[in-house]
Amino acid sequence: MTGPLILGIESSCDETGVGIVRGRELLANEVASSVDQHARWGGVVPEVASRAHLQAMVPALERALAKADVDLTEIDAIAVTAGPGLMGALVIGLASAKALAASLNKPLYGVNHLVGHVAVDILEHGPLDMPCGALLVSGGHTNLLKVDDLTSSITEVGTTIDDAAGEAYDKVARLLGLGYPGGPIVDKAAASGDPKAIAFPRGLTARHDLAKHRFDFSFSGLKTAVARWVETARLEGREVPIDDVCASFQEAVADVLTAKAVDMCDHYGLKQFVIGGGVAANSRLRTLLEERLAARGVALRRPRPGLCTDNGAMIAILGSEVVTAGLPPSASDIGADSGMP
Ligand code: KG4
Ligand code: ZN
Repeated sequence: MTGPLILGIESSCDETGVGIVRGRELLANEVASSVDQHARWGGVVPEVASRAHLQAMVPALERALAKADVDLTEIDAIAVTAGPGLMGALVIGLASAKALAASLNKPLYGVNHLVGHVAVDILEHGPLDMPCGALLVSGGHTNLLKVDDLTSSITEVGTTIDDAAGEAYDKVARLLGLGYPGGPIVDKAAASGDPKAIAFPRGLTARHDLAKHRFDFSFSGLKTAVARWVETARLEGREVPIDDVCASFQEAVADVLTAKAVDMCDHYGLKQFVIGGGVAANSRLRTLLEERLAARGVALRRPRPGLCTDNGAMIAILGSEVVTAGLPPSASDIGADSGMP
């Protein structure tokens, strides 16, 4: 395989990621997570995340280079997450990338973390067919996107009007006392529960909501409905069937994400659809989406779960696409943009 040798650095939240790709081939993907340090707080503590990035960055870089069996001097360009994310966390990755670019005299490309989540599947399943639909579901974002060109033309078709899907998972896990991050724990508990046990609401699917929010999402009502249901059960002295609550909640999330994704593909006549972000690792979302899209003749592209959550390979592959597209490098004074759209 040929193509540019790209080093990708990710530090937008609680994962320090260093990935190396050659063209569209994955050579290394080293991730160091500070998730255990945040667990007792039930969410990411920005200061703790920044300090963990500072400690983990150079060791992760060394491991990635060893794994890829390349020397730092062979790298053609450095890609780094410039946003969105936690400001204090982003600047650690940016400072590291700038230092490398300056000392090696190589071009630096600041890229969008969210587009990285869309791009990562290229490493597993090859180039995306354009135009394609994308569902980006993470701890901070829930977006339906129409991708006409990965590096220059992505349109947001829908978004959440309140909580992100991953945030809903984390909050529900917290109210059930299951720990953090909630997504994987709820996913596992749901496997032994009944998804039809409790009829939780599907946000923004009523006819009057669809008129204004056809492709948008809302998860805060669902989270409140779960909280009410659990509270009532506890007040009435009933045992809370954790597995059933998790399965029913998960079904509601997967159902609404999937329904709107399918509607979007119909509306825009899309034939390919890609998912990305931590919640794209969810087992029910993956199977339900596959079923419903296949019934419409739309091919689903799902990166393996390990590539859905934050990592450096997604930044490296996006950097590789940007370099190959011939886009100019970022200025040497590029800053972090925590609210990058
Ligand atoms: O993309 P990501 O690693 O970080 C952000 O950019 O936010 O996503 C993290 C989110 C968390 O909310 C986590 O609970 C959720 O993804 N998540 C899952 C699963 N694995 C991670 N949610 C549902 N099911 C999963 N299997
Ligand atoms: Zn992410």
